[in-house]
Amino acid sequence: MAFVIDGKEAAASVISAVTEASASLEAKAGIKPGLAVVIVGNDPASHAYVNSKSKMAKQCGFNSIQHTLPEDTTQGELQALVDTLNADPSVHGILVQLPLPKHFDSDAIIQSILPEKDVDGLNIANAGKIATGDLLTGLISCTPAGAMLLVKRVHGEDLSGLNAVVIGRSNLFGKPMGLLLLAANATVTMAHSRTRDLASVCANADILVAAVGRAEMVRRDWVKPGATVIDVGINRVPAPEKGEGKTKLVGDVAFAEASEVAASITPVPGGVGPMTIAMLMANTVIAAHRVAGLGAPKF
Ligand SMILES: NC(=O)c1ccc[n+]([C@@H]2O[C@H](COP(=O)([O-])OP(=O)(O)OC[C@H]3O[C@@H](n4cnc5c(N)ncnc54)[C@H](OP(=O)(O)O)[C@@H]3O)[C@@H](O)[C@H]2O)c1
Repeated sequence: MAFVIDGKEAAASVISAVTEASASLEAKAGIKPGLAVVIVGNDPASHAYVNSKSKMAKQCGFNSIQHTLPEDTTQGELQALVDTLNADPSVHGILVQLPLPKHFDSDAIIQSILPEKDVDGLNIANAGKIATGDLLTGLISCTPAGAMLLVKRVHGEDLSGLNAVVIGRSNLFGKPMGLLLLAANATVTMAHSRTRDLASVCANADILVAAVGRAEMVRRDWVKPGATVIDVGINRVPAPEKGEGKTKLVGDVAFAEASEVAASITPVPGGVGPMTIAMLMANTVIAAHRVAGLGAPKF
């Protein structure tokens, strides 16, 4: 049976380092990291995410600011808020919760966040830094940064000689994850919906990362014996065993089967998920250190 990589425990250790770094920044430079989280509309899942981000920011000792805007907010109104937050020196990180309601041009909003405050790592300046191998001066997208931290817990910093396969090529996750693995010297294959014979591509992976959004797609025979499996997918499926109408969360990997073959595997929930919020806090404390002209902590 595979070793189950504990994302909650890894996230807690990041949060404890962030809290320490935040307190020391305040003591040294009188700067309290400020994280502004903006949510538009009434989507309950988005509200749950935003509340846990704001709560965690407070726990880290940050100045946590939440802006909740109504569904009928206009592009211009949201843009004006982002411009104000960009100009506010007490705000070091800005996160606009996605997805925005359909009438927004989300990309225009995201790209207007100053790169140095883009703690979600979605601005093209930050994406471009990862693509050119600069992992030190930008802000790295939170979920790939967190997934990478879990990979490094198993394999160390240098992935030389290892084959990594990432299923999914989104800007949010798949592409930056592939680039981070490449920067750590893995030999990387990026698979997607047009990949031929995905199962045999995956069966070659020493590190298999699944970020597709299809419940339990990765089966036992897709996993190379001894592989490390990182499951990024979050899928809500019916769970009649829990009672009528009940649901549960599963990943993109058939966990029980894959665990029989893999050497290490992340669970869903409790794997990559908790790392995303932890890395958001890490990016905020990094951004605040840079403003203070102090060396930013590494996570
Ligand atoms: N844990 C977290 O905090 C966290 C954060 C972000 C995302 N997620 C989860 O990760 C999953 C992926 O998120 P995302 O934003 O990257 O999704 P996305 O933008 O929808 O991208 C999905 C990717 O999967 C590929 N794909 C779809 N069907 C496929 C198939 N049958 N075979 C192979 N590849 C296939 C797509 O290929 P094409 O490009 O060819 O269409 C695409 O590149 C979702 O379940 C999401 O909820 C979790």
